[in-house]
Amino acid sequence: MSSIPLLIDTDPGVDDALAILMALRHAQHRVVALTIAAGNVGLEHTVRNARSLVDIAGSATPIFPGCPAPLLHAAEDAAFVHGQDGFGDVALPEPSTRVESEHAALAMLRLSHEHAGALTMVMLGPLTNLALALKLDPTLPGRVPRLLIMGGAVNLRGNTSVAAEFNVAFDPEAARIVFENWPQFDLLDWEATLAHPLEFDDMAAWCAAGGTVGDFYARISEKTRHWVRSQPFGRHWHSADGLAMAAALEPDAIEAAETHAVVVETEGRACRGATVVDWKDRSGARRQARIVQRYSQSRYTALVAMALGAG
Ligand code: RIB
Ligand code: CA
Repeated sequence: MSSIPLLIDTDPGVDDALAILMALRHAQHRVVALTIAAGNVGLEHTVRNARSLVDIAGSATPIFPGCPAPLLHAAEDAAFVHGQDGFGDVALPEPSTRVESEHAALAMLRLSHEHAGALTMVMLGPLTNLALALKLDPTLPGRVPRLLIMGGAVNLRGNTSVAAEFNVAFDPEAARIVFENWPQFDLLDWEATLAHPLEFDDMAAWCAAGGTVGDFYARISEKTRHWVRSQPFGRHWHSADGLAMAAALEPDAIEAAETHAVVVETEGRACRGATVVDWKDRSGARRQARIVQRYSQSRYTALVAMALGAG
């Protein structure tokens, strides 16, 4: 079976790194592009981190820088989680991998034609680049059979605010454009992330057994692991992007999901960036989001171990 072409839009970011390593090592997929967003940290850092990741993975995946800021309103980054440079502030050497001159949004459109009917797109960061691509060419979804978005908090249990998850809250206008104009996509939200914890000891063992990639991940994730352990949910490690990528790479391991209409709140005083799910389908709106609720924990951990070079 020929490999599935995969475009990953990402704001690396420690959990993005795990997801990208997972995809680069997956036998049934070929990563045709990393399109880079601002989010966890500024674009200059997320682009550099993508370069470092492609270097350590020994990959030739092209990297396309995207938008340096949200469409309308400035937003706070998540450097307090990922480190000021987004990769744990461990002074990684200057990466050798270059970046492409083509903008991420234009690369999305070009690759949707080159891989029409076959491309899977996985969104691991704010949706600014995808929203821009959609505005440039509203026919984009027709050429992309599968879109998976890591974002949202389907019962309003947010991580970046009371009601909102970081990727959506960083650029709610972009998320609204995507949610209103993409006919059908898979949604892996923050609450599903919390429901699929990883053990710190397992992560440490996989990194220790993972050679250069494992060592790299142990280094860039140390600051984040320390921060997580200081949090109320800190008994376990959670990788939002890692779980999202698992669901993208091996959807047959999705054990429970519901499809409903989801609206992004862009105005709410108390809930800007919230993802409001029509659980009872009362609105009559298009049920565009397949909300992933449960994924096989054993398939997930096998993919994580593989990503780190231990599986
Ligand atoms: O809310 C979690 C998401 O926000 C993840 O994608 C993480 O990398 C950050 O981008
Ligand atoms: Ca991310």
